[in-house]
Amino acid sequence: MTPFEAIFNRKSIRHYRKEAVPDNILEKIQDFDGELLPMFPYVKTVTKVFREEEFSHKELMFQVRAPYYLAIYAQELEGCQENAGNMMQQIALYLHGRGVGSCFLGLLKPPKGAECPEGMKFIIMLAFGYPKEELNRDCSRADRLPLEKLCVFKQEPLKATSQLLEAARLAPSSMNSQPWKFVVYRNRIHIFVSEKRALKPVGKWSSINMGIMMANILLTAEEYWIDVVMTRSENLAEKTIPHYSYTGSVLVKP
Ligand SMILES: Cc1cc2nc3c(=O)[nH]c(=O)nc-3n(C[C@H](O)[C@H](O)[C@H](O)COP(=O)(O)O)c2cc1C
Repeated sequence: MTPFEAIFNRKSIRHYRKEAVPDNILEKIQDFDGELLPMFPYVKTVTKVFREEEFSHKELMFQVRAPYYLAIYAQELEGCQENAGNMMQQIALYLHGRGVGSCFLGLLKPPKGAECPEGMKFIIMLAFGYPKEELNRDCSRADRLPLEKLCVFKQEPLKATSQLLEAARLAPSSMNSQPWKFVVYRNRIHIFVSEKRALKPVGKWSSINMGIMMANILLTAEEYWIDVVMTRSENLAEKTIPHYSYTGSVLVKP
């Protein structure tokens, strides 16, 4: 299964078998060497695999137990959280395609004493391994808001625009908060993030969630050969939704 196909089949896995993941997969997810689609190529990211035994009992208390955990670190630059979320989602989809389940973990930090790559900060952890439960879930069974709830349609979208939106809708997010909204024109999508602070912890992962959602858009664009440009327009005339702030736009080139 390709990473694109995995968008429609992946679910978070919270129970794992104690079976080793082959070295070539472990190596691959620590050295993608330019194979991932970055949102911000100028933000360097590094991934590192930890084994369950490297954490103390206390560190893993109340966490999803898995044989492996993948930490992603990024340079402390603007967009680093989005970029790391975007990269990690592509890795999660790659792993899914190889039969390996995963679950983002918002609260788990690298084990005490683990060195942070110089000039970088830790962003987010992904538990992974072979699942004890069913790996796949048909997207019709995913607990996600329908597009009518997520979008303000200003024009009839092109087929390509709709394909991007459907993939974005299916993205995982912390506590399934789905903090995004889309203002949709024929060939452009203006993207907004919720400013809601009621569920306080969710705000902390907002940028990571947005990066994860963008990974689904970028992989879909690549799959269907849709030429997209990511922009940030300063003209806010068509970009206001109460309680949401504008993050950027995706333009579908004709
Ligand atoms: C940034 C982020 C942090 C998350 N943190 C946790 C976590 O700490 N524990 C957990 O069990 N799931 C966590 N999840 C998984 C979400 O709960 C899950 O993606 C969401 O409920 C949707 O379910 P699905 O992935 O099965 O479609 C996290 C997801 C994201 C994107």
